[in-house]
Amino acid sequence: MILGTNEYQNPLILRAKELGYETHVFGWPVGEIGEKTADVYHPVNIMDYDLLWDECQKLKPCGVASICSELAMHPMNMLLRKLGIPCNSKETEDATTNKYRMRVLMKDYGLDSPNFMLVTDHLSLDEIRRASTDFQYPLIVKPVDLSSSRGVCKIDSQEELKDALDYALGWSKIKQCILEEFIEGPEYSGESIAYEGKYKLLAVTEKRTTGAPHFVETGHRQPASLAPGQFERIEEVLYKAFASLNIQYGAIHPEFRITPDGKIMFMEIATRMGGDCIGTDLTPLSSGYDFMGMVINICQGKAPDFTKIRKPMIAENHYILTNDDLMEFERVRREEPETLWRVSNIKPISDKPVLKSADRAGYYITIK
Ligand SMILES: Nc1ncnc2c1ncn2[C@@H]1O[C@H](COP(=O)(O)OP(=O)(O)O)[C@@H](O)[C@H]1O
Ligand SMILES: [Mg+2]
Repeated sequence: MILGTNEYQNPLILRAKELGYETHVFGWPVGEIGEKTADVYHPVNIMDYDLLWDECQKLKPCGVASICSELAMHPMNMLLRKLGIPCNSKETEDATTNKYRMRVLMKDYGLDSPNFMLVTDHLSLDEIRRASTDFQYPLIVKPVDLSSSRGVCKIDSQEELKDALDYALGWSKIKQCILEEFIEGPEYSGESIAYEGKYKLLAVTEKRTTGAPHFVETGHRQPASLAPGQFERIEEVLYKAFASLNIQYGAIHPEFRITPDGKIMFMEIATRMGGDCIGTDLTPLSSGYDFMGMVINICQGKAPDFTKIRKPMIAENHYILTNDDLMEFERVRREEPETLWRVSNIKPISDKPVLKSADRAGYYITIK
């Protein structure tokens, strides 16, 4: 059983079919690619837990998987628990989908953290100012419960606080946001897998974003160029952070920066693959590991297989946001077509500002 049908989920459907599984794919009918690629497509709202469990009892699947959606993690774990297949606890699920809870647990475990505080719409601006007097600007404001850069804003002074809080609280479904110090340094993610509470870092991703104020991701490259010994240092800190959230099973996507004084500090950790093709395409291409095969094993209670299935390469996902990006894509298509691994649908470039991931026009993945 696979939950979710969109283009980022589709590679999991294809990989499961390649490995000989019969795929039953669940999702609301909106014309997504997975509705067509599934062996059997079930037009079901995956947040309707009763209906989903009924369908699951009829099907008797060998496992339940989902890879790139924060939302789908909840029904996936619900089904795994009912089927008796080991998965992350409810506490871990809650902590990894709440940016404030995550910060509290990581700090209590002794990980380097910025100053942070929870903001709800019950607090007055004065109360927030008083509680954050020790915080060093710039600060970041973001909803505790969202993803894809929705509602995220960097501010350089107290004067900008109110607008940023209104922006973040406006996005938050539970009307809560986190106010925290801005972490300096280049941004990375560390694609990892957990099984029975043991971890393996498969690849480090180097990220490009639009920068302040909204930090929409514009490109990802694996492997990241790291100084000697840095991969091992990242492994050590990542595994400690995963333990702080008691992550036990499945794909993990931690996002962090390496500060000018060499500290590894987290933005957030998700118990799923990185979206934007990071888990499905870049990680297998750059590491040679069958990341989706590992998830497919774990989602049915089996140990992951660390055999490499391909020769590692340099893999990069380029997002198209501007006309210049589009021209560069046209150039690559003309002059280096052999480097193109995959190209998405490309929407017309919009003249509106790019505030969140969904505002990007499309992407292409290159390999070298
Ligand atoms: N404390 C922080 N310091 C520096 N940059 C941050 C911080 N928090 C968020 N960001 C930037 O904003 C982006 C989105 O924030 P993130 O916490 O990853 O939320 P989302 O769930 O929307 O991806 C990050 O990838 C990073 O570029
Ligand atoms: Mg993020």
